[in-house]
Amino acid sequence: FPSHAHAYRAAIIHTLEDPAKVGIDASYQYFEDGLLVVENGLIKAVGHAEALLSTLAADTPVTVYNNALITPGFIDTHIHYPQTGMIASYGEQLLDWLNNYTFPEEHKFADKSYADNVAEIFLTELLRNGTTTALVFGTVHPQSVDAFFEAAQSRNVRMIAGKVMMDRNAPDTLTDTPESSYQDSKNLIERWHGKGRLHYAVTPRFAPTSSDEQLTLAGKLLKEYPELYMHTHLSENKQEIEWVKALFPDQNGYLDVYDHFDLLGERSVFAHGVHLCDDECKRLAETDSALAFCPTSNLFLGSGLFDLAKTEQHNIKVGLGTDVGAGTSFSMLQTLNEAYKVMQLQGEKLNPFKSLYLATLGGARALKLEEKIGTLQPGTEADFVILDYHSTPLMTYRMKQATSLEERLFVLMTLGDDRAIKATYAMGKALHTRG
Ligand code: GUN
Ligand code: ZN
Repeated sequence: FPSHAHAYRAAIIHTLEDPAKVGIDASYQYFEDGLLVVENGLIKAVGHAEALLSTLAADTPVTVYNNALITPGFIDTHIHYPQTGMIASYGEQLLDWLNNYTFPEEHKFADKSYADNVAEIFLTELLRNGTTTALVFGTVHPQSVDAFFEAAQSRNVRMIAGKVMMDRNAPDTLTDTPESSYQDSKNLIERWHGKGRLHYAVTPRFAPTSSDEQLTLAGKLLKEYPELYMHTHLSENKQEIEWVKALFPDQNGYLDVYDHFDLLGERSVFAHGVHLCDDECKRLAETDSALAFCPTSNLFLGSGLFDLAKTEQHNIKVGLGTDVGAGTSFSMLQTLNEAYKVMQLQGEKLNPFKSLYLATLGGARALKLEEKIGTLQPGTEADFVILDYHSTPLMTYRMKQATSLEERLFVLMTLGDDRAIKATYAMGKALHTRG
């Protein structure tokens, strides 16, 4: 039989469990001289190179990476592909930022060829940054989601996306109706959900831009199809929260609006959750809903500081999100850099092993995909990245002074960006190689 296996030799790390649950030392597996064996797109084995090399067929190719660390591919649990062209827009907080910058850009996605071009740029950028799976907002236009899924399908990457549902409090040219949003979403679900590595997320933009009728139909879609995701925004900005209270006076706060329309659940992901009360945290945990922690966005829009410690106390699933274009980087390393600072401002530490968890297995759990991605366990999909300890002159010099794995990881996450991604693999195929 011809051998389809390929092995990669370098230092290897992956997360086994949340450090908040089992402590740092039991949370990960590390091989200083490791070997990752891939066969038919899946991980066949991971372990010490010396031990594993002797088990390989003699003709198995082995790629050696020096000064490198292999990790699972990064998982971005909240990002807007249509906002690629307006990232780094100056001077506003959430609601004015949406009106002044976001909505004008999202108009352009009525044109399928514009959407096709941005989808290509976006996916290339994700892979350049080591991100192999993302939960992605489209625009209100169904063709924006076709463009995204077509580009994802051609790369065979595991992606989740959906059409924005938005029927009020936005420009007329960007709104749908409850019925059209239901039908357009249904058509996209039939076309894309479960096709290859693609999944659909029912995507009401946020409570202020949906009527009761639209949120009711979003809940109906979730009941009609198995394993659909629900993706929206929650409690990001104080003005936004006051607005939700005024728009939904009968509900008991922001999360309760979504709860009322049956939008909470094990595949529901809420971006931000910066200003949550204890009851809301309890309800998120009870329903196994997830939060996306988006530090660069929360700092850029001046939204506030995400309380990771509180979410740990309440046992809420948390993933990391870039939230581009309110977020300022596609790099999950740079997102962890900012996450660390958000914790510092609250007198808390973010340990680099916890950071690794958030960017990989934590994200996979937030998306209920931990059986498939987020670790390097044999049998899971071979989505992984090669991180370069020598990605810049400064990093090379700094690494010389580093004496422990923890320190090297922290330096990678603090100084690293797209230059630190030597290669990105999905299903065992190199989709990005640097230089
Ligand atoms: N809330 C509603 N829409 C958006 C958006 O596009 N970005 C962010 N950050 N928050 C939102
Ligand atoms: Zn967002």
